[in-house]
Amino acid sequence: MIRILVLNGPNLNMLGVREPAIYGSVGLGAIEDRLQKLAEAEGIELQLFQSNHEGYLIDKIHEAYGACDGILINPGALTHYSYALRDALTTVAIPTVEVHLSNIHARESFRHHSVIAPIAVGQIAGFGAYGYEMGMMALLQHLKANR
Ligand code: DQA
Repeated sequence: MIRILVLNGPNLNMLGVREPAIYGSVGLGAIEDRLQKLAEAEGIELQLFQSNHEGYLIDKIHEAYGACDGILINPGALTHYSYALRDALTTVAIPTVEVHLSNIHARESFRHHSVIAPIAVGQIAGFGAYGYEMGMMALLQHLKANR
């Protein structure tokens, strides 16, 4: 069984309420439910975690060492500046896919840069909640191909 850790960073617990014109009206719970169903169909064991605190996300990444095969992460605003989060991901060296609901490249200039993207397998942005499903399938394909 392939084990995937799904991480969501700051403010993503407010999906559905937070700027729906940008992030859509689907809540994080519904996104996670859809991922769980897809994971069951694909034989993936999922671990789901959201935190508004950088350190808690880093702790989860460390715990994934030796316990998870892949990481799907929407780091929220930490995407743009958290070298600590990036370092945690390179420390455990677990293949990671970065996902964003919005197209960060079409928004404010501070969102154009991701410190995570250069160490990720790839980035998916701009497809709303569906991007998580795309990201998980892309990560699964990558893990199978690199077994
Ligand atoms: C986001 C984009 C980030 O710039 C922002 O800070 C978020 C959400 C997205 O999913 O589109 O919190 O990661």
